[in-house]
Amino acid sequence: MSKLWDRMLLVPTVVRLASRAPRNPHIAWEQYWTGIQNTGHDGDVLWDSDSPAERRQYTDLVLAHFDPALPVIDVGCGNGTYTRWLATLFPKVIGVDVSAGAIARATREARNTPNCSFTVLDATQEGAGDVLLNKWGPANVFVRGVFHVLKPNKQAAMVENLKTVAGTTGRVFLAETNFPGNSLEYLAELGATSEHVPGQLQRALENLPRPGRFGARERLAVFPETDWCILADGPVNIEVVAMNPAGHPQRVPGYFALVAPAGAAGSAGPIQR
Ligand SMILES: C[S@@+](CC[C@H](N)C(=O)[O-])C[C@H]1O[C@@H](n2cnc3c(N)ncnc32)[C@H](O)[C@@H]1O
Repeated sequence: MSKLWDRMLLVPTVVRLASRAPRNPHIAWEQYWTGIQNTGHDGDVLWDSDSPAERRQYTDLVLAHFDPALPVIDVGCGNGTYTRWLATLFPKVIGVDVSAGAIARATREARNTPNCSFTVLDATQEGAGDVLLNKWGPANVFVRGVFHVLKPNKQAAMVENLKTVAGTTGRVFLAETNFPGNSLEYLAELGATSEHVPGQLQRALENLPRPGRFGARERLAVFPETDWCILADGPVNIEVVAMNPAGHPQRVPGYFALVAPAGAAGSAGPIQR
């Protein structure tokens, strides 16, 4: 069967699975997280590859640009895999997520990591930035895989909050999937065929809002140059859990950016230690 034909045959399966997803994204995320049994590289969560190779792409960047005197806030932390990693690099890390189920799981998974804490928070809600600033003071922000699941107006609302949190000393690091093809090509790339959809992908399809891509163009639209200074950006590989029988790593083309609010102290480069 040709690739194109197989993709066409995938359409009814995708439509059937996606029609089950709740329309309200907050309900969708909660439903998703409360249904998760196992996390990590052989678990149920599509993006939770827990990959050292992916993290190696980020380590030097966050170490060079995040002032360690500030806390780090992992926005949309999910089960906290990246929050725990950040806690190996920085003294104080806080994970926030809109889903109470995700935060309960993240708290359990970090029970042996004393410098992590977690809070339920909608990062797109007006005033969320002030809530975080009042509690933790100015902070660095880490975001993996959240912008691409938000609608543009919600992305912009989240950025407003991040600006408040970063103040004049914090930096924002983001890493997002930026797959160049359409959604059917994306699903096929992850291993979906007309005959089989891998379990982790099926769970995402039947619960969650449809993801988009987030690259330099999308970043510029919500982090305008009048308000933000770009310190570094470029391509990265985002790793998802292995869904092929051989267990080989599966990478999705992604995009990272490191930004500072315009006019922030030293916003032209890495921090001076
Ligand atoms: C694709 S997952 C990425 C999770 C985590 N950053 C990681 O890389 O493992 C997206 C996460 O964003 C959270 N999320 C979605 N909308 C959010 C919002 N408005 N505020 C805070 N978290 C949100 C979801 O609950 C989910 O845990």
